[in-house]
Amino acid sequence: MQQSFHPRHFALVPAAGSGSRMGAGLPKQYLPLLGQPLIRHALATLCATPEIDQVFVVLSVDDSHWARHDWSEMSPKLVPLFCGGPTRADSVLAGLRAIAHDVAATDWVLVHDAARPCLASWHVERLIRELGHDDCGGILALPMADTLKRADEQRRIVETVARDRLWRAQTPQMFRYVVLRRALESAHGVTDEASAIEAAGLRPRLIEGDTTNLKVTWPLDLHLAEWILLHREGVVQ
Ligand code: CTP
Ligand code: MG
Repeated sequence: MQQSFHPRHFALVPAAGSGSRMGAGLPKQYLPLLGQPLIRHALATLCATPEIDQVFVVLSVDDSHWARHDWSEMSPKLVPLFCGGPTRADSVLAGLRAIAHDVAATDWVLVHDAARPCLASWHVERLIRELGHDDCGGILALPMADTLKRADEQRRIVETVARDRLWRAQTPQMFRYVVLRRALESAHGVTDEASAIEAAGLRPRLIEGDTTNLKVTWPLDLHLAEWILLHREGVVQ
């Protein structure tokens, strides 16, 4: 692996999930959103970001949907990798292994969920700008706005959890290639990259994003995502 004094930026998009909570007949990354497969929106934003050199998409080994769409109109930056694993962390790690010869140890990798179609260029640019000189890297996140309750098995409140200093993690999550790969190789049961980095003893920075970068998990989220994309200009800057 090469060393680099001017680190480049690569996007890695895990898209090997089945979308079980959506309950659709199709993995959610391929559901239609404004006439395009959902995943295409975030890929277009990442490909259009000048700071990003290449956009790697981690698909499941037996993905039969990718080839049904025409990606030729998209940037040559886009590279599909058919190497997903049983969990999101497995898919990300498999993607990192697959690109080992394309990246330098100190290059930045921005991991972004395929299931967040409303990613905008200002989200990506803010993250890159704020973390460019950071030792550790960090993530887009939102300060908690709601009051938090912990429930018992009967869904009765047992506790109110103080929300000060609590944040909701989003993606992209941006770390140096070698740091992220080592952290994921040692971590178990993590649901995002930052958890693996934390488990390695480092403290990722939180960069404030906004609510438009939502993750499509439940059927209603698809309608919200559509509304956000249609009303983008008026929503946030
Ligand atoms: N993902 C992945 N490999 C997996 C599981 C998830 O690449 N084995 C990806 C998904 O495709 C998605 C992102 O990780 O882009 C976030 O995961 P999530 O929202 O949980 O998606 P799914 O796992 O597909 O949905 P569900 O949990 O409802 O089945
Ligand atoms: Mg999942």
